[in-house]
Amino acid sequence: MKDVYILAIESSCDETSMAIVKNGKEVVSLTIATQIDTHAKYGGVVPEIASRMHTEAIVPVLDETLKKANMKMEQIDAIGVTYTPGLTGSLIVGIEAAKTLSLIYNKPLIGVNHLIGHIYANKIEHDMEFPMLALIVSGGHTELLIMEDDYKFKMLGETLDDAIGEAYDKVARVLGLKYPGGPNVEKLALKGKASYKLPKPVVDDSYNFSYSGLKSAIVNLVHNEEQRGNEINKEDLARSFQEVAVDELVRKVEKAFVETNIKVLVVAGGVSANKYLKQEMEKLCLKYQAKLLIPSLLYCTDNAAMIGVAAYPKYLNKEFSDFKLNASCNSNIC
Ligand code: KG4
Ligand code: ZN
Repeated sequence: MKDVYILAIESSCDETSMAIVKNGKEVVSLTIATQIDTHAKYGGVVPEIASRMHTEAIVPVLDETLKKANMKMEQIDAIGVTYTPGLTGSLIVGIEAAKTLSLIYNKPLIGVNHLIGHIYANKIEHDMEFPMLALIVSGGHTELLIMEDDYKFKMLGETLDDAIGEAYDKVARVLGLKYPGGPNVEKLALKGKASYKLPKPVVDDSYNFSYSGLKSAIVNLVHNEEQRGNEINKEDLARSFQEVAVDELVRKVEKAFVETNIKVLVVAGGVSANKYLKQEMEKLCLKYQAKLLIPSLLYCTDNAAMIGVAAYPKYLNKEFSDFKLNASCNSNIC
């Protein structure tokens, strides 16, 4: 079979990224233009600024991605693009670029769900074996699913309120740490002990998650101590938060190992960059003799390579999008 090259575009949040992916696995080139330094000044992503910066970056990022691969648009077989979930204005920049390239060069267009992209990021460095348990832990989502085959998902549970990444970012902010908060909370936690008693984010016996109570408990704790003029041990608080937050993920995955007997766990999304999470999942997988897939750091956070990989099964099935493709607020993956 002839080699298939997909040009992928990802612009759902604060990274303008493009990649060329060969045969749904091999990353030929990847470019990520990050806006982190700009948004850090405001303590979080400012949507209007994000869209404007995507508009400025999109053509240079395309040029660089083609140049690094030493390829021309004519050699590309299809264009994959993130259409949900994300900031509408940011998504639209990537989608319009994809549609324009599709029209000019007469290439099929493939809309990709960003969360599914995070799962497929694992295929770059591992072989994915079905059925798998898939744990999505990103800035906006916390979901546990069964993946039976390519694009065949069954939802076990999801967050009823805040995502774990959102809780990390909020805790970072209340501790005075810079955006993006997750990696900074992780660094601080390394130096601390879990000495604070925090409420466990347990909702019930289902697979659902809830992180808003834990997040609010920390915000209240910090404010109360400040009002009383007491010092907060930030390292200890970061460590206490991290253990409670991650242990709940472990508890739910363990329940799924027991109840489904599935022997592969794939962890996806920005929070999968967290070393404590990785270490705890490694222990759990050892206990249940399960295989653990977590991408390397580059592919944990937002990047277009994962979109190119996720677009490939759709390419093979000729599941192409038409020019009505638009930013969607329906991010359901099953
Ligand atoms: O997947 P991602 O890059 O963007 C979304 O799709 O949301 O995830 C971003 C989230 C942010 O909440 C960020 O704080 C968190 O992932 N994150 C981390 C770490 N690196 C990124 N959280 C904990 N520890 C990390 N090392
Ligand atoms: Zn993401």
